[in-house]
Amino acid sequence: MDSKLVFSDSPKGSLLVHFAFEGAVSHLKGPSYFTGKKLESAFMPEKSFLLVGLGKKEEFNIDYLRRAAAKAVKTASAAKMPIVHFALLDGHKENEMVAVAEGAVLANYSFDKYKTDAEQKMFRIKELSFPVAAKKFEESIRETLLVCQNVFIARDLVTENSDVVTPKMLEEVSRKISGKHIKVRVLNEKQLRRLGFNMLLGVARASEIPPRVIIFEYNGNPSSKDKVMFAGKGVCFDSGGLNIKVGESMKDMRMDMAGAATVIAIMKSASELKLKKNIVGIIGCVENLVDSKSFRPGDVIKSYSGKTVENLNTDAEGRLVLGDILAYGARKYNPNVIVEFSTLTGAILGTFGSHCAGMFSTSDSYSQKMFDAGMATYERVWRLPLFEEYKEETKGERSDLRSIGKTRYNGSIFGGAFLAEFVENIPFIHLDVAGTAMLEEPKDYMPKNGSGFGVRLAIEFLKRV
Ligand code: BES
Ligand code: ZN
Ligand code: ZN
Repeated sequence: MDSKLVFSDSPKGSLLVHFAFEGAVSHLKGPSYFTGKKLESAFMPEKSFLLVGLGKKEEFNIDYLRRAAAKAVKTASAAKMPIVHFALLDGHKENEMVAVAEGAVLANYSFDKYKTDAEQKMFRIKELSFPVAAKKFEESIRETLLVCQNVFIARDLVTENSDVVTPKMLEEVSRKISGKHIKVRVLNEKQLRRLGFNMLLGVARASEIPPRVIIFEYNGNPSSKDKVMFAGKGVCFDSGGLNIKVGESMKDMRMDMAGAATVIAIMKSASELKLKKNIVGIIGCVENLVDSKSFRPGDVIKSYSGKTVENLNTDAEGRLVLGDILAYGARKYNPNVIVEFSTLTGAILGTFGSHCAGMFSTSDSYSQKMFDAGMATYERVWRLPLFEEYKEETKGERSDLRSIGKTRYNGSIFGGAFLAEFVENIPFIHLDVAGTAMLEEPKDYMPKNGSGFGVRLAIEFLKRV
């Protein structure tokens, strides 16, 4: 999708969209029933006119604009109208216009690759139009549109079949984004063995497709030594391994590489935006399958970091993959902070559902920045504790560490505490996106399946560090 951005005061053939606060609708000549309640809409096809309510002014949240703009795009799409023109808002602030553009573009997406009937494919909006007076925000709007295109890459990768999005395919996608500003390095199976990524290799053992660790380096500020590292879980399919997933729980596990997809989209966005930051991305790409070669529960593995880990459940594979790449990334690059995305635990869904990601951090200041970035983008995160008692729980009996807790409680925190053992005292944020990276139901400007959660969040975080 590449919708054109235009600035015009006389848009022809477009759906004209006005937003209105509750009780402030009389000047808009809408139908009498329309009062401006939050996301209430009134579509007048004969006038190509749409009103969308923003609710009470004193309860306003900027995300309502994203949602209202999404509603406009969906209305235009259903009516097969290719151009949407947004009237200016009262006082038209920059962040508000950007939010409108963002909601509109994010809603103009559908994964239609496997629909054979053209009628069933979404009618895409071709042109987003704003009044000429909004032209002064053009640069910010274009930046947002650019990031949204990369959100679509993440969505596509998460939603696409697991037999298409393999570790090999993630390598190909990654190499495509390498260029003048971004260096891509791939550690293959042989190199991983030599380096001692034994936890990651254990997970990958049953797969016919060899694992890869892919590293991105973007140096947007060569005069500084500061750098931010993003890490991502790239389990292209998680069958659970010998602790095989049962019932319905396996069918969505093509999404278990969402963390890796997020990191790819972040790196691409950062380089295209030419952010003045040094950024390293690292993703561990494997398949967790079943075979006579499978790694087994109960065996102790020596990790890249040197710590030994009793692998107590082959379905807790994400932390093994991540433990090795985090330790490698921390040692090799010594970043100021590591932010890691993973669909790590089903338990985080039990806690937050799909409305926010779980955040676990060793740093108050970085996690505050991440929280603020979450509120600004509405890709929200909420911090849970890593108290010393939780850290104690990760101690092993026959080994340094154990991979899962002794009880079936606090599963998401255990995962966070385990990962924190591998970052060599570098400030660390683990985001458990198991509930947010893939949606069971569409919402507002997010489709069912891959949501692209985390890309906008990370770009906002980068602007704040
Ligand atoms: N990939 C799953 C987590 C997951 C579950 C993601 C549901 C998205 C939706 C992860 O590898 C896993 O299987 N975790 C186990 C951990 C357990 C064995 C300690 C879980 O959550 O049950
Ligand atoms: Zn698993
Ligand atoms: Zn998994």
